[in-house]
Amino acid sequence: MRVLVTGGAGYIGSVATKVLIEAGHDVTVFDNLSRGHRAAVSAPARLVVGELADKAALARLFAEAQPECVMHFAALSLVGESVAKPDLYFENNVAFGTNLLSAACRAGVKRFVFSSSAAVYGSPERTPITEEDPLRPINPYGSTKKVFESLLEEYAKAYGIHFAALRYFNVAGAHSGLGEDHRPETHLVPDILNSVLHPGKTFELFGDDYPTKDGTNVRDYVHVHDLARAHLLAMEAIADRSIIFNLGSESGYSNKEVFATAEKVVGREIPFKLGPRRAGDPPILIASSDKIRRDLGWKPEKSLEQMIADAWDWNQTFPNGYPD
Ligand SMILES: NC(=O)c1ccc[n+]([C@@H]2O[C@H](COP(=O)([O-])OP(=O)(O)OC[C@H]3O[C@@H](n4cnc5c(N)ncnc54)[C@H](O)[C@@H]3O)[C@@H](O)[C@H]2O)c1
Repeated sequence: MRVLVTGGAGYIGSVATKVLIEAGHDVTVFDNLSRGHRAAVSAPARLVVGELADKAALARLFAEAQPECVMHFAALSLVGESVAKPDLYFENNVAFGTNLLSAACRAGVKRFVFSSSAAVYGSPERTPITEEDPLRPINPYGSTKKVFESLLEEYAKAYGIHFAALRYFNVAGAHSGLGEDHRPETHLVPDILNSVLHPGKTFELFGDDYPTKDGTNVRDYVHVHDLARAHLLAMEAIADRSIIFNLGSESGYSNKEVFATAEKVVGREIPFKLGPRRAGDPPILIASSDKIRRDLGWKPEKSLEQMIADAWDWNQTFPNGYPD
C-alpha cells in the first residue's frame, strides 16, 4: 500500500516507517524536523520536509504521493509544555492536524491511523483501563488527543474515511538502529539510560509516596516494535470500519521496578536522587488490551527487560542522540 507517515522522522513514526518498508509498503514521510531527525528516516522512504500548517504543501503532498493510507504521528507531546503553552498544542495537534485530515478526505483517502494516547483517560477510576472508560484528560496534551478523536468520528460520518485511534500507553525500546531521541527527554527509560551515559546527569525519581506497591508510579510499557506492528494490523483492519484500541501490555511496572530492570541490563548500580511528585502524574496507568487481542489478534511480544536492553544498545551507539 502507499502510506503517508506524518512525524516519520520522530521516534515512533521512524520505527513504523521501517516496519512498513520491511512489510513491502511504499512510504512517504512528511515531517517539519522540529522535533525529528533526518537520519531517522529509513530508505527507500521519501522524506518530504514540510509543515502541517501549510495547506498548499499538503495539497501538493497528496497529489504527488497518492497515499492510500495516512498514519498520523506528527504532534507535540510534552505534557509540561502543553500546560505552559496550550495555544501551541491546540494549534499544532488539532488545527494543523485538521488540515491533514481535511486534505486526506479531499484526496479520497479511506484509511487514517491516528496516534492517540493514554492521556485521554486522565486519572482513571479503575485499572486496567478499557476503551469504554470515560475520557477525562487532565492536561492540554491529552485534550488535544481527545478532540482529534472526535474530529475523526465526525469526518468518518460525513466523508466515509475509516480511522484507527490507537491509544498508546508508555512506549520504549529501539528497533533496527532507530531509537528514542526527544529533546528534552522526559521519558523514564531513556532518562535512566542517559544518566548512565552522561555522569553529570543524575536520574531523578519523581515521588515515592504514591498509593502504589512501592510508592512510585506504575505504568504500562509497550515495545516500539510491538506498537509499530499493531499499526500495520490496524491499517489492514480499517478497510471497511473504524476502530479504537488501547495499546499496552496489561502489565504494570513501578518506576522502581523499571529502574531495577535497567540496573540489571546495564550491569551496575545507577545513582539516583529522589525529587518531588511531578504535577499531573496519576499513580497507576495500566491498559486493558483485551479488545485489540480479540479483534486483531495483536499481543505484545517483547518484555520490559527486552525493551530496556534494545534501548540500551541504541543509546550506547548514539550517546548524544542522532547526528543532526
Ligand atoms: N512516545 C510515547 O510514549 C507516546 C505515548 C502516547 C502517544 N504518543 C504519540 O505518538 C506520536 C509520536 O510520538 P513520538 O514519541 O514519536 O514523538 P516525536 O516528537 O519523536 O515525533 C513527532 C514528530 O512529528 C513532527 N511534527 C510535529 N509537529 C509537526 C508539524 N506541525 N508538521 C510536521 N511535522 C511535525 C516532529 O518533527 C517529530 O519528528 C505523537 O502523536 C505522540 O503524541 C507517544
